[in-house]
Amino acid sequence: MDTLNIALPKGRLGEKAYAMLKACGYDCPALEDPGRRLIFENPEKGVRYFWVKPSDVAIYVERGAADLGIVGKDILLEYEPDVYELLDLKMGKCRMAVAGKKNFRDPVGQTLKVATKFPNITRNFYNTKCRDIDIIHLNGSIELAPILGLSHVIVDIVETGTTLRENDLEVYEEIVPISARLIANTSSYQFKDQAILAIQERLARQVEETR
Ligand code: PRP
Repeated sequence: MDTLNIALPKGRLGEKAYAMLKACGYDCPALEDPGRRLIFENPEKGVRYFWVKPSDVAIYVERGAADLGIVGKDILLEYEPDVYELLDLKMGKCRMAVAGKKNFRDPVGQTLKVATKFPNITRNFYNTKCRDIDIIHLNGSIELAPILGLSHVIVDIVETGTTLRENDLEVYEEIVPISARLIANTSSYQFKDQAILAIQERLARQVEETR
């Protein structure tokens, strides 16, 4: 049996993803008592898991260091990696949105200053609207930008809306709904097809059952 290398995103999304995989029979006891190790294998189930930064999952899968990965749709839209998107896991749901100060009005005629961790998604969105923008690429705490006058608006992930609310900001426009996806390396999908299809089918069934 082929061993599948699976990249999990560190954090809440990865933990939920592992819970789904475990429920499908792909458990790995070593991963449940991790210590500081990063790789965990269950040879009986043919799986080897490793934790990586959420934004790095697609890189591991694209380059074949992982056969499969769990990644947010935001990362796929931002980096456009050459991978197969096999399944919408319908969890880790949030949305990509434009947000600004309450009562924000677009300063028509001026270049719109947009702070974001997602320059590609931002560029694509405003290109479709033919809106002239200046992207300010930040790495975190994006909500600060409009408050301090660094930008007019932000493009960011909104999950519960708490961060926006607590900083007197609000959603101005929705861009796209986001959820976690199962992705595969394109060669692994050919050469480890049976193992990958088995996991894909079991996860798909589980997604349907928990709807
Ligand atoms: C994300 C996102 C928002 C927040 C949204 O930030 O960038 O700041 O979560 O969640 P909410 O709608 O439930 O409040 P993250 O926690 O990844 O930290 P960051 O500021 O470092 O990007």
